[in-house]
Amino acid sequence: MKSRYTLVFLVLLSFYACKKEEQSALGSQGYELLVPSSLGAIDFPSDNEFTPARWALGKRLFYDSQLSADGMVSCASCHKPEKAFADDLAFSPGSEGAAGLRNVPSLANVAYLPYFTREGGVPTLEMHVLVPIQESNEFNSNIVAIAEALSQDPSYVQMSQAAYGQNPNPFVITRALANFQRSILSGNSAYDRFLMGDESALTESALAGMDLFFGDELKCGQCHNGQDLSTHGFENNGLYTVYPDSGKFRLSHESADIGKFKIPSLRNLGYTAPYMHDGSLTSLEEVINHYATGGSNHPNKSDLISGFEISQLEQQQVIDFLLALNDTSFIENPDLQP
Ligand code: HEC
Ligand code: HEC
Repeated sequence: MKSRYTLVFLVLLSFYACKKEEQSALGSQGYELLVPSSLGAIDFPSDNEFTPARWALGKRLFYDSQLSADGMVSCASCHKPEKAFADDLAFSPGSEGAAGLRNVPSLANVAYLPYFTREGGVPTLEMHVLVPIQESNEFNSNIVAIAEALSQDPSYVQMSQAAYGQNPNPFVITRALANFQRSILSGNSAYDRFLMGDESALTESALAGMDLFFGDELKCGQCHNGQDLSTHGFENNGLYTVYPDSGKFRLSHESADIGKFKIPSLRNLGYTAPYMHDGSLTSLEEVINHYATGGSNHPNKSDLISGFEISQLEQQQVIDFLLALNDTSFIENPDLQP
């Protein structure tokens, strides 16, 4: 009896608070979004501005396995916080163990991505939420059914009202998950500190590796540059002569796009192995060897992938540079844990 009154009171209180001032809607659960100063400002859509209540609802949904058909898989089953919101398998299983088709990418700094998935076919984070929910090898579920189930749970109804002034529905679920994902921010690596003026942040070896990485021999920096070491362009980096997964071609049906994939961020590589769209390269040594040999011949392979000579020492220097993009404060960020 007592708990029921408490609940009604909380619902009324949070509804009232939400009307008055959204920031305080969650009271003690309030969360302040702090963007690392190394990163740019985040553009929240006008119908989904950041509020602590939206963030809290999105976080709860992100870790809730109720969303999947078999009730066993959450977003975090594949996007694991301790793996920089990626996974350590080449392909991660979805609901009822259904085999995944691509390697799970990290969600660090998805707030800044211009488009989503490895062929870039989804324009916003809000729209992308429908992809894992519907995909047969991810949640294999249905957003309308999920909304109905959540509407039976008074605590979800309360949080949904506090966040968007509505009961759980597809609008609320897609918005809240996107709101939370924009807080998955990594900008505190040794390389970030170096760029912000701390010259001691990189070791001698990492500094030498940085010069190699951005130099004319290796040419890595021509595709991997900017805030997350990615231009976000699409390139064929020479993995195969025949691509089992045709990449951007799946979207455009233009043969010039066969084997082209979104250039990924290179942050937190120490946590996100295996690498590439299919997880086919298991270590950074293998990645550098791949580029050093010039890769497989394919008509769409970028001219920048032409091979180079590299000594053992230089290879280690490039790896030390790449690992200087690891961000332990991000991996351990208590606000992002379940
Ligand atoms: C079964 C594993 C699995 C689950 C569960 C899963 N994802 Fe993913 N996620 C993936 C894979 C694999 C990709 C890459 C898909 C592609 O490129 O086509 C991906 C891609 C993404 C991307 C795009 C990232 C980019 O760089 O473009 C976002 C955002 C994302 N997932 C969010 C979510 C959210 C939110 C949930 C829960 C609602 C979720 N995922 C559940 C495996 C999963
Ligand atoms: C022509 C553009 C281009 C150049 C030059 C380039 N890359 Fe890449 N890189 C890509 C693309 C595209 C992918 C993703 C391929 C895929 O998903 O299969 C990638 C993937 C990677 C990955 C895997 C990331 C992950 O999370 O899976 C690493 C590591 C990497 N590149 C490092 C390097 C290094 C080191 C160099 C220089 C030796 C380099 N790249 C040069 C385009 C490029």
